[in-house]
Amino acid sequence: MVEAFAVASGKGGTGKTTSTLALGMALAEQYDVTVVDADTGMANLLFHAGLADVETTLHDVLVEGGAPVEAATYDRFGMRVVPCGTSLSAFEAADPERLRGVVATLAADADVLLLDSPATLSSKSAVLPVVLADRVVIVLQPTIPAISDGLKVQEYALSYGSDVAGTLFNKVQTDIEAVRERADRYFEGPLLATVPESDAVRAARSAGEPLLAHAPDSTAGAAYREAADALDPRDGDSGDVAERFRTAVIPDPS
Ligand SMILES: Nc1ncnc2c1ncn2[C@@H]1O[C@H](COP(=O)(O)OP(=O)(O)O)[C@@H](O)[C@H]1O
Ligand SMILES: [Mg+2]
Repeated sequence: MVEAFAVASGKGGTGKTTSTLALGMALAEQYDVTVVDADTGMANLLFHAGLADVETTLHDVLVEGGAPVEAATYDRFGMRVVPCGTSLSAFEAADPERLRGVVATLAADADVLLLDSPATLSSKSAVLPVVLADRVVIVLQPTIPAISDGLKVQEYALSYGSDVAGTLFNKVQTDIEAVRERADRYFEGPLLATVPESDAVRAARSAGEPLLAHAPDSTAGAAYREAADALDPRDGDSGDVAERFRTAVIPDPS
């Protein structure tokens, strides 16, 4: 079985990478989970997962005659983790279209694929995870601009046949009832969880560890576990997912 999720938002800094790793670790208690830093232009998953010093990353896989994806796959925190490097020249050398084949390969060997997705919808490569995933987790900060950008992600996903897994509010500081009501009205899928603004999340990032490794008993950690429970991954055929990633026509948003 496999289900591919894109973890997306309209904006950078909302907590996509934090959320990808936290959901991944929670789901890994039950499933074979692979997380991929598909945000190849603004990659930061490596810093969250203690992989900043590794030799081979996704960038090395996305070039002609590049490394096999296995060489950029690391067993960490009970998951398989495919980090991406941060060098601008490596990003420019990489062919984002090759990400399709990489995801197709990884789909053969996972129950759950989590694609940490780019914030923008400005290029073919940036929309790829949202368009090709089975479902999209939309990470929002509880502000009107963030919700408005999140709605664009939802619109994009739905118009290309991806379902919305639900919304995840992050960095919540105060009572967000009014914002939440609005989100309930406009977003498909359930509210997966409300994650508080939290020192534990910041400390985990500084330590280079996913939240559920660094502070498993934190309130934020509990919220992510609740979100993971609500995801209830579907039993998709890995051949179908691989075929879709290899062959589907990706729209050019520009
Ligand atoms: N709930 C939270 N509380 C406090 N800081 C957070 C929280 N979620 C994320 N952060 C911090 O915000 C920054 C951006 O988070 P990150 O997951 O890297 O976002 P994105 O991948 O969307 O750009 C990081 O420094 C992270 O530690
Ligand atoms: Mg990120």
